[in-house]
Amino acid sequence: MPAPIVPARRALRDGTPYSEAFADVYHSVAGGPAQARHVFLAGNGLPVRWAGRERFVILETGFGLGINFLATWRAWREDPRRCARLHFVSIEKHPFALHDLQALHERYPELADEAGALHASWPLLVPGAHRLELDGGRVVLTLHFADVAVARDLRLAADAFYLDGFSPAKNPDMWSPALLRSLSRLAANGATAATWSVAGEVRRSLERTGFIVRKEKGFGAKGEMLTAVSTRGKDLSPSRERKALVVGAGLAGAAICARLCARGWEVELVERRAGPAQEASGNHAGAFHPIVTPDDSVFARLTRNAFLLSRNLWKDLPGMKWDPCGLLQLARDERESGSQARAVAGLPPDYAQLVDREEASRHAGVPLAAGGLWFPGGGWVMPPSLVRAQLDGCSSLLKRTFSTELQTVPDGRAVILANASGAPALCKVPHLRLRRVRGQLTYLPESALEPPHVVVLRGGMVLPPVEGLCVTGASFDVDDEDATVRADSHQGNLERLKNILMLKTQAPKLEGRVAFRTVAPDRLPVVGRLGENVYGAFAFGSRGLIWAALAAEIIAAELEGEPLPVEGTLAKALEPSRFSRRAAARGSRP
Ligand SMILES: Cc1cc2nc3c(=O)[nH]c(=O)nc-3n(C[C@H](O)[C@H](O)[C@H](O)COP(=O)(O)OP(=O)(O)OC[C@H]3O[C@@H](n4cnc5c(N)ncnc54)[C@H](O)[C@@H]3O)c2cc1C
Ligand SMILES: C[S@@+](CC[C@H](N)C(=O)[O-])C[C@H]1O[C@@H](n2cnc3c(N)ncnc32)[C@H](O)[C@@H]1O
Repeated sequence: MPAPIVPARRALRDGTPYSEAFADVYHSVAGGPAQARHVFLAGNGLPVRWAGRERFVILETGFGLGINFLATWRAWREDPRRCARLHFVSIEKHPFALHDLQALHERYPELADEAGALHASWPLLVPGAHRLELDGGRVVLTLHFADVAVARDLRLAADAFYLDGFSPAKNPDMWSPALLRSLSRLAANGATAATWSVAGEVRRSLERTGFIVRKEKGFGAKGEMLTAVSTRGKDLSPSRERKALVVGAGLAGAAICARLCARGWEVELVERRAGPAQEASGNHAGAFHPIVTPDDSVFARLTRNAFLLSRNLWKDLPGMKWDPCGLLQLARDERESGSQARAVAGLPPDYAQLVDREEASRHAGVPLAAGGLWFPGGGWVMPPSLVRAQLDGCSSLLKRTFSTELQTVPDGRAVILANASGAPALCKVPHLRLRRVRGQLTYLPESALEPPHVVVLRGGMVLPPVEGLCVTGASFDVDDEDATVRADSHQGNLERLKNILMLKTQAPKLEGRVAFRTVAPDRLPVVGRLGENVYGAFAFGSRGLIWAALAAEIIAAELEGEPLPVEGTLAKALEPSRFSRRAAARGSRP
């Protein structure tokens, strides 16, 4: 289980939001928005410094009420010379629950518009990174619900730092030399920092990590504040043209087209079939949900990020056919039941919770064979509709080339291999052995069973009726290249279905579909740089629906030099180079 988030408790002292846990106020009694403008915006030379820029990245320690963020967003909106894309990354260990945030924000009517938009996207209180796209995606808020020590594990180049912990005496973790060292490693060329604190230790730590520090006039009762300029910044801004070639028009390729075109890239999509979503991504419907594990493994953390990111992106996607109706993952036996209980212990029930058989059956609307995990935000998607909706959203920035099989990787543009098991033939990935795993689904007419209202998994899966058909399955046939629909696979699917619920009648003639999953040995997708100008997003195994968005966002962020949507450790777990690293650790040759 992940270490549970302890949300902040709403309190006031003399009319100013106050933390009882830290015995300190959230902002100056002279006003939050005004403090944000004086200390953090002006202290970092904003809005002037972002004028005319393609992108500007701010990193804040302590999101709190988000007043600094809301005031920065407001200033950005009001500035005709604003940068094209504003990234605001903030780290917060004790986020507020939505209802508390809403109540506190009523105190700042001048920021009501921005606050309302933030409330509409406020994430579930689960640990990890949450990326929210606001203002049509031009303002990107990445919230890390984590201890500030996560700064060590971020991948970004910040143009401005807002240092806003509680006072150093009461909240030393937010100002430690180690933290300031981590932050200084994240500085972009010419980065600045600002804080209301003038503690000598903070100033010295900043100076030791390569900042030139100045005292300036403070805000409210504070006579002074600190501003600083980094002398050791790095440059992540890409020098390449914003043009890309994407290979493969399945879930992986469509998501990449969408994320790149959203950033103004011109993309050519090449697909060997006559249209999109004809191979693995052509199934009638599939399930989506995160994985939870007792040790909150890398896999669990990655699927959490991927699931939440996907849902955020899908909610505004016209034409996509899906239903976040909820998903049950029934326990197969007592042992699994125990492990499920440990896995959800620290998680909020609106993310995942344990339910007994009766409650599971109530969610499903039909009697089920067991209890298990309930994911209220899971559900089903028709993958071809997601692929098409994403491609259609790219408008004229996307050129589609079908019935063309790419044989070699061309020079010039960035190339992204999103062609599943075909990727290694175009660019060798040392030490990677991909497998193709045959999968057959059975499409049952809804009259053949008492259909559940939610997705139910137990070894196999059954979906609620989607356009009259309940998708059930799937077989998992390793090293089986038979693309025809087979009776034995249908039989296996029905056997698995019987472990979930009762069949009413045997359907007279079973319909189905065969496709092939592409799987890496560690079951994680392969996402990232493969070589000079070549990137990969493949091996999505049985979870293409949620991996596609995360993979695409990581690659688009890397190409653009933007903050990554996940912690560095998690991005690293997906990198194609992991196979070589492991081989080197084992001492084997390429
Ligand atoms: C039976 C079954 C059930 C599944 N159920 C679920 C589920 O419930 N939930 C879930 O999340 N996932 C599920 N999956 C997994 C999911 O379908 C895949 O992970 C996902 O579709 C993979 O997408 P992709 O874009 O990587 O691959 P694909 O959809 O296979 O797309 C790759 C594309 O690349 C093209 N291509 C290959 N080589 C070239 C080339 N050289 N030039 C041009 N084009 C090329 C191919 O024609 C293909 O269109 C299931 C998979 C199967 C098989
Ligand atoms: C002064 S408040 C931030 C105010 C905020 N910037 C705003 O605009 O509303 C300090 C914040 O730091 C957070 N914090 C304290 N210790 C932390 C830690 N170790 N890691 C991450 N956040 C922490 C607190 O929960 C609090 O929200």
